[in-house]
Amino acid sequence: MQALLSKIFEDVKPLMGKGKVADYIPALASVDPNQFGIAIFSNEGDLYQIGDADTPFSIQSISKVFSLTLAMKHYGKDMWQRVGREPSGLPFNSLVQLEYEHGIPRNPFINAGALVISDMNQSRFASPHYAMSEFVRRISGNPEIKTDLQVADSEYEFRHRNAAMAYLMKSNGNFENEVEDVLKSYFANCALRMSCVDLAKAFNFLANKGYCTISQEQVISEEEARQVNALMATSGMYDEAGHFAFQVGLPGKSGVGGGIVAIVPGRFSICVWSPALNKVGNSCAGVAALESMSKHIGWSVY
Ligand code: DON
Repeated sequence: MQALLSKIFEDVKPLMGKGKVADYIPALASVDPNQFGIAIFSNEGDLYQIGDADTPFSIQSISKVFSLTLAMKHYGKDMWQRVGREPSGLPFNSLVQLEYEHGIPRNPFINAGALVISDMNQSRFASPHYAMSEFVRRISGNPEIKTDLQVADSEYEFRHRNAAMAYLMKSNGNFENEVEDVLKSYFANCALRMSCVDLAKAFNFLANKGYCTISQEQVISEEEARQVNALMATSGMYDEAGHFAFQVGLPGKSGVGGGIVAIVPGRFSICVWSPALNKVGNSCAGVAALESMSKHIGWSVY
């Protein structure tokens, strides 16, 4: 495995820095694009890593999987009246569908869907971001995980598009709490800083039937873990979900910080990271690394 990682690292290195670092969140625009890391954590507890795999980065939309997990633990099947399970076929921050579909977002991974999930967690926890931080520290085994307050503040300052979605959902009766409070929790969760190693470990439960080997807890049921993987496979990579299924064939979730998490059910949780993004907001070198890895090992679930 380590030899394969070295080969993939060398193959994909020329792509490092190709694409564009997210700049619609000003605090992310200054990240050095020439960084690239991979971490793979096996269900047996073996860790493989290469490059900048220990460097913390802004997890952004990858946090949506953790929020969904926390909401599922509490609300179970009831939550699906408020958010759908279909790919949107539109950019992650699109507003148009939301009006046609009466304030019910297509899935929990587009921004509108993640905001509804954050609203659910706002109703459930006294401090939703504290609950989230505790959760990711526990399941990754890293008590040092922190929130980048500068990124969270920067997102809040430029919140208008996300605020528009949340207010539209509120006008449709699909939002329980004050919009501004939920936005603050949502941005703080997106602004968590974790490394590839942290994320590969934290996602072990999705490769492992809902059980986290690090914290030794059943995080969600086996059925729920399968459902989260299915949602990642259909909607985790936004407009590129089809291409990703075709080329990589694994459930995946990306973030505009340049991270991508992928799950090989029953075997591995993987995180790749390189900050420069393609047009739909997924890491260029990250997608290429996963394509190459999956091809070499024949990991596709299809
Ligand atoms: O709300 C936003 O736009 C960001 N905090 C998260 C977007 C994101 O990461 C989309 N991923 N590719």
